[in-house]
Amino acid sequence: MLKMTDVCYNYSTGDRALSGVSLRIPGAGMTAITGPNGSGKTTLGKIMAGIIKPTSGSAKISGKDTRDMSLGEIGRKIGYLFQEPERQIFAPTVEEELSFVLRVQGVPDAEIAQRVERMLERFHLADLRERFPFLLSRGEKQRLALAAVLVNRPGFLVLDEPTTALDLKRQRDLLDLLKELLEDDVGMVVISHDRRLVTRHASRVIELVGGEVLRDSA
Ligand SMILES: Nc1ncnc2c1ncn2[C@@H]1O[C@H](COP(=O)(O)OP(=O)(O)O)[C@@H](O)[C@H]1O
Ligand SMILES: [Mg+2]
Repeated sequence: MLKMTDVCYNYSTGDRALSGVSLRIPGAGMTAITGPNGSGKTTLGKIMAGIIKPTSGSAKISGKDTRDMSLGEIGRKIGYLFQEPERQIFAPTVEEELSFVLRVQGVPDAEIAQRVERMLERFHLADLRERFPFLLSRGEKQRLALAAVLVNRPGFLVLDEPTTALDLKRQRDLLDLLKELLEDDVGMVVISHDRRLVTRHASRVIELVGGEVLRDSA
């Protein structure tokens, strides 16, 4: 599904965030990426999801170099959750945040209503449907951002620290949901500090340190 070959990434400030990362990630199961702050996890996740392109080396999704793919094409293959949910929230209401992508894709209204309703329930957002997303709590924003990713039914997910802003109950709900998705053959890369999530659910753990792969359980 994902193939990184000798990926390096330098930010424009000159900071080298990744050096010489080569990985193959299968389309099924959960691959966890862990490592200390600043080790390059977010940068690697963005490269995997095609949001940024490697400075050198290559990143391929289903055999195709992300440099040759439009964001729309990548978006139909991979759902990406930003570490900061504000980055992907822009609609005037919670409900519109969920329906927007489907409208753009020309999904029929009745189906949009159904799919949005399912997400509102599943993420306990039904009572907040008319609310302005920017004024939600951090945990509510995180649930909304993830719902907006999943309403699109991507076959593969890259989730950057999806449990950080959630209380224990919501963390457990999210883990149950991820388990269901795994059973439905949705593959995922989960970037996480959460030991419990990593040890209980991931079939593979990759540890980054200083922009390099220190350990890979595969
Ligand atoms: N937008 C940016 N501009 C310059 N340097 C950045 C930027 N984002 C991240 N970095 C640097 O790249 C390195 C890796 O960051 P990041 O991928 O966010 O790590 P992690 O997600 O593991 O905390 C760090 O040294 C960080 O300071
Ligand atoms: Mg990060």
